Amino acid sequence: MSFTVAIDGPAAAGKGTVARAVAARFGFAHLDTGLLYRATGRRTLDGTEPVEAARALLAADLESDDLRTAEVAQAASRVAAVPEVRAALVEFQRAFAARSGGAVLDGRDIGTVICPDAEVKLFVTASDDVRAQRRLDELLSKGAETDYDTVLAELRQRDERDSARATAPLLPAADAVLLDTTTLTIEGAVEAACAEVARVRDGT
Ligand code: DC
Repeated sequence: MSFTVAIDGPAAAGKGTVARAVAARFGFAHLDTGLLYRATGRRTLDGTEPVEAARALLAADLESDDLRTAEVAQAASRVAAVPEVRAALVEFQRAFAARSGGAVLDGRDIGTVICPDAEVKLFVTASDDVRAQRRLDELLSKGAETDYDTVLAELRQRDERDSARATAPLLPAADAVLLDTTTLTIEGAVEAACAEVARVRDGT
């Protein structure tokens, strides 16, 4: 039987961390849908046309270890605004969500477009300052040379593009549960998300 948990939110709000933890806790499969756009964006940096890049995507592309750079994040956000790119990636995501045993998908449009009938929908947010600090820590720990102001500006630029696009913009589904992680620890955010999943699963 399928059971879908849709987790959306802006960059660096903690949705990936929450999604991985929920999947581990409940034994669900997890798909970070941002990787699909990052892998597509990554291919365009080599000169490939965006729609062609999305259609040619292979599972192995998602394993590439250079998908987390700021340059690839911006390329991902740009290709994600192209309706034909999004269309090329829909079927894979829906098939993943429908697998038996449960699935967690995190992204921007999971609760609104990809899985509007998901059993659980969470919209994970945090203040711009906290998100920028978290992303800065992540990038510095990987040896990137950057600073707080640069990271904050890039996050805001990406959020604006992701929110303003005509097709599948970043938006909470009307029936999503909001989870603001600004003042939460990772454990606190994970517990809140797991409590919501358990509540729905157990029908309480
Ligand atoms: O979650 P992320 O930062 O890895 O996502 C990278 C970009 O991909 C993000 O700026 C917008 C796009 N994206 C999207 O449009 N829809 C999704 N479901 C996931 C990501």
